[in-house]
Order: sequence, then structure tokens, then C-alpha cells
Amino acid sequence: MNSNFSPIYPVIWQDGRVSLIDQTRLPEEYNRVLIGRSDDMAKAIKTMIVRGAPAIGVAAAYGMYLGAMEIDTNDRAKFLKHLEEVANLLRQTRPTAVNLFWAISRMLRTAYEETDSVENIKDTLLKTAKDIQSEDLATCQAIGDRGIEVLPSNPEKLRILTHCNAGALATAGYGTALGVIRSAWREDRLEKVYADETRPRLQGAKLTAWECVQENIPVTVITDNMAAHCMQQKMIDVVVVGADRIAANGDAANKIGTYSVAIAAKAHNIPFYVAAPFSTIDFELNNGGLIPIEQRDATEVFEINNSSICAKGAEFYTPAFDVTPAELITAIITEKGAIKPEELIKHKITVQ
Ligand code: MRU
Repeated sequence: MNSNFSPIYPVIWQDGRVSLIDQTRLPEEYNRVLIGRSDDMAKAIKTMIVRGAPAIGVAAAYGMYLGAMEIDTNDRAKFLKHLEEVANLLRQTRPTAVNLFWAISRMLRTAYEETDSVENIKDTLLKTAKDIQSEDLATCQAIGDRGIEVLPSNPEKLRILTHCNAGALATAGYGTALGVIRSAWREDRLEKVYADETRPRLQGAKLTAWECVQENIPVTVITDNMAAHCMQQKMIDVVVVGADRIAANGDAANKIGTYSVAIAAKAHNIPFYVAAPFSTIDFELNNGGLIPIEQRDATEVFEINNSSICAKGAEFYTPAFDVTPAELITAIITEKGAIKPEELIKHKITVQ
């Protein structure tokens, strides 16, 4: 058993402010930034200082509390009206990850359900943000443990490919896809991780590789266009990725490039798992075509390290996410166990 797990917490509540690992600076620098206002939290989410679906949800929950503390009234109706404005500001940061909207709705619901004084509503909001954070940590650990139950039993030590970063940095801690990998490592079921570099923001090369190195988990970074080749060379036993939003039919949105990895895995008969908490499932959307896809700034495509890599005069296309159709997904690993995408809908009742 490997037991050198040293927790990474991207979001920490600290003396009335939120401390975030600045993920735009990793791996060169490990810096934490302190956020004390809701508009600064919105900026931190938009500029990807904090990123990854569940981590965005946790950060937004604290953003709601910071916003609540900025409202100077004892009038409940006025307070709730202003809190809705904070919610709107936070909702406008990133459109794809449903955890953001889920966490904001839960915070708003908490506020509306608390019938006592504004002071009490504020206290309950802080408690709810802390609950969202601790529940996500426990959920990720459960996803990791459910994950190793379904990974192929042969070979004994697996070579797992992942895309983007669905690790501790992208959650309250531990991770979803990387949570499964962490659990496999702990149980001695992992030979190595292949991390797609994940253009354009390089979350695989910068963040997934960094997390693995922190814990001595063997990791090999490949450029995105090498994944199919590695599968053809029989270097990959299984693929595990995270998700930003999963539609009711099991179609899953994740970082751009995930869809091509899924197609390549299907072509090589390699199991392809999506690891995500139930809060990532959007039962309101019947299929993945309805998931809003964030477009990022063109500089993310035409620049690397602030220097242009493209011919002047070219145009750019900048989707940050793509949707992997359910038929390419072997199963969705949740905290309640692995579920076949076509069976997801049966679980709708249990989460409402
Ligand atoms: O744009 P990002 O870095 O926020 O995108 C992150 C991803 O796509 C992750 O794979 C996804 O959020 C799952 S995180 C547990």
C-alpha cells in the first residue's frame, strides 16, 4: 500500500476570507491569494485562479457568503434581493460547470429557508458553504474508492490515461478522476498515469503532473495528439476523466479534447470512465447538446507564454469544453458507485 498522501486544498476558509491556490501560477510558483469580496471571487473564478467544476462550486458558495456580508441591512426582503444580485454576478463567471449553479442555488435556498434575522441567515450561509466544501471532500474520497472497485482487474497494475486536471486542485481536495487514480495508487493498483497536456491551458502538464509529483505518483505527460498513438502501442489500460456537466442521458461535457480521447479509446477497446459527483449531473438537460459550452479568449489558442505561435491573419475557434456522447462512456463513477450512462435517469429521484 502506498500511503504518502499529502492533502492539497485549493480553497480554505481563513479568518473571514477565502484563501485560494493561484492555479494560474502553478507549477512554477505555489502562491495563495486571499479573497475578501464577492466581486473578487467572481474575478478569481473567471480568470481561473480557481478552476475545476467542484472547486468552482465551493469557491462560489464562499463568494455568496462574502456577498452576504457586504449587504448592510436588517430588512430580510432587501437582503434577499441584494443576495440575488450577488448570485447573478457569480453565475456570469463560467457557463459550463453545473456545480457553480448548483452551489449558488443551494446557498440561495438556504437563505430563503432561514426565516430568522438577517444575522442568522448570514451565519447559516457560512455553515452551508463549509458543508458544501466538506461534503465535496468526502464525495471525492468515495468516488476514488468506488472507482477502484470497477477498474479492470487485469493487469494488476494499471496504466491510466487522464485528460485535463480533475484532481484535488479541481475539487475541495482529493479529486474525481485523479481521486480514482489516488485510490488506485494507495491500493498498489497503479503502474503509472499518462497525463494529456491539455491544450490550450495545459491543465494536464501543469496541474495533474504537479499533483502526481507531490505524491510520487509516477506520471508521464504526453501532448494531446499522442493519446491515440499510445493506445495503439498498448500503453494504456483504462481512461478516467472528470466532467463539468453530465446530461440526463449520460452525455458528459469535459475539457476540450476529451471527446477525441473517448473516440480513440472506443477504437482500441479501452474502457473509458467519467468520474464525477452527483452534483455534476444536470437532470434538467435531456442531452449533451443542451450543455452551454464556454468560449475562451482567442489568446489562449494563439499564444503560448505571451508569445504568438500563429500566422497573423488567421482566425481562431476557442471552445473550452466538448461533449462526449454517452455511448462512448463505459460508466460514470459517482460517490454512490459506477452507473452506466443509460441508467443515470433511474437515479433522478434519489438526488432530489
Ligand atoms: O477549464 P477548467 O480548468 O475549469 O476545466 C476543468 C475540467 O474540465 C475538469 O476536467 C472538470 O472540471 C472536472 S474537475 C473534477
